[in-house]
Amino acid sequence: MEQKQYAISMSGICKSFGGVPVLDHIDFNLEKGEIHALVGGNGAGKSTLMKIMTGVYNCDDGKIFVDGKETKILTPNDAKKNGIRMIFQELSLIPTLTVAENIFLNHELVKNMHTDKKEMALRAERLLKDLEIDVDVSAKIQDLEVGVCQLVEIAKALSVDASVLIMDEPTASLTEEETELLFKIMGRLKSKGVSIVYISHRLKEILHIADMISVLKDGHIVITDKKEVFDMQSIVRYMIGEKAVNQFVYKERSIAVSKEVLLEVENLTWEGNENSLSFHVNKGEVLGLIGLLGSGRTETMEVLFGLRRQRQAKITLDGMRLKINSPSDAVKYGITLIPEDRRRQGAVLWHSLLSNITLPNLQANSRNGRMQHKKSRVFSEICVDEFNIKTEGIDVPVSSLSGGNQQKVVIAKWFKTNPRILLMDEPTAGVDIGAKGEIVKLVREFAQKQGGVIFVSSELSEVMAICDRILVLKNGKIINEIKREDITEEEVLQNAIQQ
Ligand SMILES: Nc1ncnc2c1ncn2[C@@H]1O[C@H](COP(=O)(O)OP(=O)(O)OP(=O)(O)O)[C@@H](O)[C@H]1O
Ligand SMILES: [Mg+2]
Repeated sequence: MEQKQYAISMSGICKSFGGVPVLDHIDFNLEKGEIHALVGGNGAGKSTLMKIMTGVYNCDDGKIFVDGKETKILTPNDAKKNGIRMIFQELSLIPTLTVAENIFLNHELVKNMHTDKKEMALRAERLLKDLEIDVDVSAKIQDLEVGVCQLVEIAKALSVDASVLIMDEPTASLTEEETELLFKIMGRLKSKGVSIVYISHRLKEILHIADMISVLKDGHIVITDKKEVFDMQSIVRYMIGEKAVNQFVYKERSIAVSKEVLLEVENLTWEGNENSLSFHVNKGEVLGLIGLLGSGRTETMEVLFGLRRQRQAKITLDGMRLKINSPSDAVKYGITLIPEDRRRQGAVLWHSLLSNITLPNLQANSRNGRMQHKKSRVFSEICVDEFNIKTEGIDVPVSSLSGGNQQKVVIAKWFKTNPRILLMDEPTAGVDIGAKGEIVKLVREFAQKQGGVIFVSSELSEVMAICDRILVLKNGKIINEIKREDITEEEVLQNAIQQ
C-alpha cells in the first residue's frame, strides 16, 4: 500500500501497557511543512503516540509510513535515519556536561582519534547564534535555568538535519519571550519544509501556531481539522467533554484576606543580585510574583526555601524570626516549595508513588518513630483520589505516569504536609486544563484556611485568576505592586512586566 503526500502517516496504531490499552487504532497523518498540534488531557497518550513514531516504544499493532513508504521504526536510531527527531517532555540533557557537549552527545566530532572540543564548541556557538539563543556553550547544564535548558534541548534536536520534528511540551518552562523565540524558530523550520508535531496544554499557543489540530481522548483521535474550525472552548469540549468551564476567573473569597501579616521579608538578596527585595504575605493571601526571565522570581523562592544562600535578610513568620539555611529548616518552619523543575527537584522518578508521597509526610505516617506501612498506603491512595492522579496504582514508579500526572504527584505530596507557606513555581506546567482548574481551586482552599501562598507563573491568565496582589520583579528588585482590583485585563500585567 502506498500513501503519498504525507511526511509521516500512522495507521491503526495500538498500544497497551500492562494490558491497559492506551492507544486504540489511531490514525495520524502529518503533512509536509505543517505544524500539527496534538492535544488531549493528561494521560491521553500524546507522548506515547510520539514515542512510537520515534522508536522509543514499539506499537502492538499498526503501520508507519514515511514519505508514503511503509517503514519499520523499532529503535530511536531507525527514527533518526528517517529524519525524525523528538524533543522530549522529560529533558534528556546530562546535567554535568556542558551545553556544547550535550548538543553533540552521541555524534561527537572527532579529530585524530580525540573528540574535537574546540570545533564542537564553535559549531554549537554558531548553531545557538543562528537560533538567537543567548547562552554560554561552555556552561554546565546543571547551572542553567530550566527555560534555557529547554532551548538547548531544542538546539540539540536541530543540530542534526530533521524532516520531522516532534516537540513535547516545549514551552512548559519557557517565558513568553522564550516562547516567542521558539515560534520564530518553528516558523523558519516550517518554511524549509520541516513538519512539526506540537504538543502543548497551552491552548492559546496552539491556536496561534498550529495549522492542523488533532485531539486525543480515551485512546482515540476524536477530531483532526484545520486550526480555523476551532476556538478555545471547542478544543476544551473535545478534550474533556461538555463540562467545559471557564476556570480562570477570579472568584471573590468567602473569607476575606486577613490584615494580619504572616510572612515578612526584609532585604532579601542573593549572590549576583545587587538589589534587594522587601515584601510581606498576609494570612490567607495569594501573592503573585511576575517578571521576565532573570527577574528573580525563582531565586526569591529558592532563597526562602533555603536552596540558595542569602545574605542579610530578615525573615519572620507570625512575628518569629526564622533562620533558613537549608530546605530542612524551611520545611521545619512550615514553608514548602513546589519547584519549577519537577524532574530535577520535585520527584524521584524511579521510585514509586507510595514512596514519593510518603517521604515528606513521614510524621503523619509513623507512630513512636516507626513507619506505619498500612497507614502510608491508605494515605497515598487518598492522595491519588483527591488529586485525581491517573495511575495504575501506588506501587508503580512515578516515571511511568504521564507528565501532567507526575506534576500532580509533586503537588499532592507537598499539599499534604499542611504547610503554613506554600511557594509555587510554575505549578501548572504540563498540566491539562481540567487539572489546572483543580490546582487553582486547591490553592484557593489552602489560602482560605489562613495559609500564605507565593505564586509564580508565566501564564498571566492564571496569575490573574488566583492572586490577590501581584509584585512585578525586574533584576532582583520589586518595581511595581498591583492590587487585584486594578487588574482589568491581562494586558495590564503584560505591560507591567515589559517596563
Ligand atoms: N512506560 C510506561 N509504563 C506504563 N505505563 C505507561 C508508560 N508510559 C506511559 N504509560 C501510561 O500511558 C498513558 C498515556 O501516557 P502519556 O505519557 O502518553 O500521556 P500524555 O498524553 O503525554 O499526558 P501528559 O499531558 O500528562 O504528558 C498514561 O496512563 C501512562 O500512565
Ligand atoms: Mg506527555
